[in-house]
Amino acid sequence: MAAIGVFDSGVGGLSVLREVRRALPGVDLLYVADSGHAPYGERSESFIAARVDAIGAFFRRADVQAIVVACNTASAVAVQRLRAQSDVPVVAIEPAIKPAAQATRSGVIGVLATQRTIDSAAVAKLINAHGRQVRVLLQACTGWVELVESGELSGARTEAKVARHLKPLLEQGADTLVLGCTHFPFLRDVIARLAGPNVDLIDPAPAVARELVRRLSASSAIGCPARPGTERFWSSGSLERAHAVIGALWGARVPVVALPA
Ligand code: DGL
Repeated sequence: MAAIGVFDSGVGGLSVLREVRRALPGVDLLYVADSGHAPYGERSESFIAARVDAIGAFFRRADVQAIVVACNTASAVAVQRLRAQSDVPVVAIEPAIKPAAQATRSGVIGVLATQRTIDSAAVAKLINAHGRQVRVLLQACTGWVELVESGELSGARTEAKVARHLKPLLEQGADTLVLGCTHFPFLRDVIARLAGPNVDLIDPAPAVARELVRRLSASSAIGCPARPGTERFWSSGSLERAHAVIGALWGARVPVVALPA
């Protein structure tokens, strides 16, 4: 059975990969961390589109049965062109504005994301469709992706950087925060501690995995798992760093191969 390709600008998409693994224990998974080009959030749209084209071509050569865009920024900017280039299902993450708008009690939600995601037409469309009855505060969290890419998930420096972007949202009464970047679930402990017990954090990764299962069941491509699925990892960044950080975030030492140029 063909594998499923999952990618992100870096290691953040591992937060989606773990949900996909949970939902599909018997499927082989290929993960591309484009860490050599992260963060996407401060890149131009044409740069991100070119990276998505290259990773899409890599997955086509690997003959995957589906592609998961585990990057809000890539999804906001380039999912349509990836869908147009692919003849397999493309499932993409997007900031969970709809569930947050339904869950808020204070009527104020915060969206934590990259600058590129915040500025995207995709987010404007989500707010227009689902966020008109609530106040939606958009917060570009500059520097957070780099914290996760370098494995700095805790400590004084991390807390200070997280607090800086969180504070304005809390001061304005947000009681529900959307983790609108797949790197941010790895900062969840710090965010939750700083936000306090009355603030809910929403991570759309489990919903992405459910949508993937739904799309694959529709094409009956899941089959009956005869063995546990495997995971293979590629990175466009430093392989030494990728080994260390992917190993830490995935919870096991895994081989990481250089992504072909
Ligand atoms: N994990 C990516 C996302 O969900 C981070 C993008 C970036 O590299 O800036 O948006």
